[in-house]
Amino acid sequence: MSWLALSLSLYAVSVITLTYTSVSSFASISAGQLCTLQNSFEPSFVAQGDFVIGGIFPLHYNQEMPDLNCTYRPPPVKCNGFDPRAFRWAQTMRLAVEEINQSPELLPNYTLGYKIFDSCAYPLTGQRAALAVLNGLSEAESPMCSSSYPLLAVIGESGSAQSIVVSRLLQPFRIPMISYFSSCACLTDRRKYPTFFRVIPNDDYQVRAIAQLLVHFNWTWVGLVRGDHEYGRFAVQGLLRELQGTKVCVAYQEMIPLLYNQQRALEIISLAKVVVVFSAEGEMTPFLRDYMAQNITGIQWVASEAWVTASVFTGSEYYPYLGGTIGFGIRTGHISRLSNYLQTINPQKYPNNPLVQELWEALYGCSPSLSSASQLPLCLGQESLLEQHSAYMNTSSPRVAYNAYKAVYAIAHSLHNLLHCQPGSGPFENNSCAQSNSISPWQEVKFTIAGEEVNFDLKGDSIPYYDVINWQRGTSENIEFINVGLFDGTKPAGDELLIEEDRIMWAGHQSEVPVSVCSASCPPGSRKAVRRGKPVCCFDCVPCDSDSIECTFCPENFWSSEDRTSCIPKKVEFLAYDSLGIALTVISAVGACLTIAVFAVFFHHRNTAIVRVNNSELSFFILFALTLCFLCSLVFIGEPTVWSCMLRHTAFSITFSLCISCILGKTMVVLAAFTATRPGNNIMKWLGPKQQRAIIFSCTLVQVVICAAWLIDAPPYPSRNIKYERSKIILECSVGSSLAFWCVLGYIGLQAGLCFVLAFLARKLPGNFNEAKFITFSMLIFCTVWLAFIPAYISSPGNYADAVESFAILGSSFGLLFCLFAPKCYIILLKPEQNTKQHLMGKEKKEHVTASQHRDKSEGKIERSL
Ligand code: TRP
Repeated sequence: MSWLALSLSLYAVSVITLTYTSVSSFASISAGQLCTLQNSFEPSFVAQGDFVIGGIFPLHYNQEMPDLNCTYRPPPVKCNGFDPRAFRWAQTMRLAVEEINQSPELLPNYTLGYKIFDSCAYPLTGQRAALAVLNGLSEAESPMCSSSYPLLAVIGESGSAQSIVVSRLLQPFRIPMISYFSSCACLTDRRKYPTFFRVIPNDDYQVRAIAQLLVHFNWTWVGLVRGDHEYGRFAVQGLLRELQGTKVCVAYQEMIPLLYNQQRALEIISLAKVVVVFSAEGEMTPFLRDYMAQNITGIQWVASEAWVTASVFTGSEYYPYLGGTIGFGIRTGHISRLSNYLQTINPQKYPNNPLVQELWEALYGCSPSLSSASQLPLCLGQESLLEQHSAYMNTSSPRVAYNAYKAVYAIAHSLHNLLHCQPGSGPFENNSCAQSNSISPWQEVKFTIAGEEVNFDLKGDSIPYYDVINWQRGTSENIEFINVGLFDGTKPAGDELLIEEDRIMWAGHQSEVPVSVCSASCPPGSRKAVRRGKPVCCFDCVPCDSDSIECTFCPENFWSSEDRTSCIPKKVEFLAYDSLGIALTVISAVGACLTIAVFAVFFHHRNTAIVRVNNSELSFFILFALTLCFLCSLVFIGEPTVWSCMLRHTAFSITFSLCISCILGKTMVVLAAFTATRPGNNIMKWLGPKQQRAIIFSCTLVQVVICAAWLIDAPPYPSRNIKYERSKIILECSVGSSLAFWCVLGYIGLQAGLCFVLAFLARKLPGNFNEAKFITFSMLIFCTVWLAFIPAYISSPGNYADAVESFAILGSSFGLLFCLFAPKCYIILLKPEQNTKQHLMGKEKKEHVTASQHRDKSEGKIERSL
């Protein structure tokens, strides 16, 4: 409020300035100092006082356009559509002045006067009113002529467009103005409007509130309509700014043209369900009349503060079209004497005041005086004003009227402070009091009216606070303004808006929140596809596919249902005890049992030639290893765990290694035995039972070492493979280190290969029972199985890879078992007569004496070696 105070301090100076620099078209200072007013504009209400406050109110909605061709004197302004609401505001200003004059505390020794003018809600008329405020009422009284008319400040104007004009006019004279209704954000510019103050919050807060309201109710497709003035322009601009980054899209922005055009207005209405309107009732009336004539209902209006409490639309005929309107109204206050004061005004008390006549005409439809131009029936003018005449008598929650009231008090308090300035503690340089025209900021004006503290911020604006108002049906079918929430701009962002949703009645007398969207949101399982060239709120829904960003992806262990609407857990698969698992188990059990059976047979016939001749100890070793081999295929079945994973490959590789080492040992012995028959070759000395064991042990040890290194460094671990099939999780053992895995297999392969080569060399050695032949054969099978295994293993997924490995183990084990032991078992069990040393050595045939001699020797050696 510093500027207000400052400007007040200079009023004396400004009045003097005014006297000499006044606009010459309004006052001409002739050579003989004769001062004549060129035009007169009658005030609506006047009261004299030591200090005079100007008041400008839109007492009519509009005016007939004057013919301003500048060739003759403009005719007096002719206004239409008396506005009882604005008349009430003017009366509230008068009441405030009267209260101050009666107050013993505020300005005790001074009286305030006022001059109230009608602006007809039109900027040009507002300008005339402002000039009329500056001028006196008559030439004799004119400050232009007498320099005796201290104009303190101006209360006004209502619309921002008018305030801008008035402010520009008052600026050179440094006369402060306080607006009670001009909320345009544009007026915050202190450089352009240095003497402008207001008791209404800046529209930046209102547009923020409206944006939050739209977001709150999920109205994403809204139309914006505005009047053709600064207020509308800046509000729409602000709202668009606030809506940026929200999901609300603007379907259209339209302007109600100043020269009303029905065609355009109708086009506007049919587009969106929710329509935000920044306009005042005057210009909205023809627009709404056309809307109603079209019989379109169901539009949800969002009203700005300018019309949300306008009484013009409260008639019952409006309810079907405007009922449910929601918007932000400025804060209400309490003026205790207002109702009584308003009732004191009647045509008898003011017989010459045309406005009071018009009030009567508007409220009672009758004319209290004969002189009136209207054709209305006559009435006494003593009719009592009741609450029902709400356009005028609505005093329960004064909003704009309260602003006008506050504005008068603000001026009075400022003046009071200036006049009662203690020398040495004043607002100006060196704490001096008024009279000095040096400029420096002063104290703030802060005061309380009926318990409410009135305060202004640095920009001259007041505290942002709005009521959420909803238009509901009243008892007599008329529209009532119901308070359903509030917006408190002083609260932290997010907490500002508070709405009691269940108390709201929506357009079309609905209790459901209306829906205003361009396209309904997509059902789960589909995604938005924005239409080319259309706002983002308008889209089609297309089914989700794997690379659509907006679709929600199922978590890792879930898979989308067939209709893509929900996530279902993925199937977990591993080589379980299902048909495959059971088959494997049965086969390995059969294999193991067969091996044990063979073991038993051999053990039982351990003293027979065939067992003895072929190195029984090694055979038992092989059978033992084979049993383990069969059993280790079982480790591959079942859910992989840390232990089973580590066991799988290592157990298998070590048992196989053991098995092949034994076979290798056996092959070496067979080979050695026959080569040793040549004279001078005592190789058998190096292949005694101890050495054989050592060979087996050391060959197996190599594998054990590889396995140990594998387990220590990078042991196999259970893992969930989700890559192979999207709908399944495959539980498998990851090898940990593939190098180790292939080393282990490679080592077995190496052993098998070596064994094959040696056996191959020995395959043609004489004798009825040449074991080398069978070993060759078994190794052939073994190698084939494992060679076939590699591609099958690599190409099969998780659980099948385990099955493949298991089958390879079983297959190769069976191969070994059958090739090595079936012929022997056959002889033992079915051909016991052949189970003699002679037969085995082929002695009966004696086809070659030397050979038989050799064989005798070698047999001896073989036997010895056993
Ligand atoms: N807050 C509006 C404004 O600043 C209120 C208003 C009053 C209005 N009279 C008007 C808006 C006339 C448009 C037209 O302008």
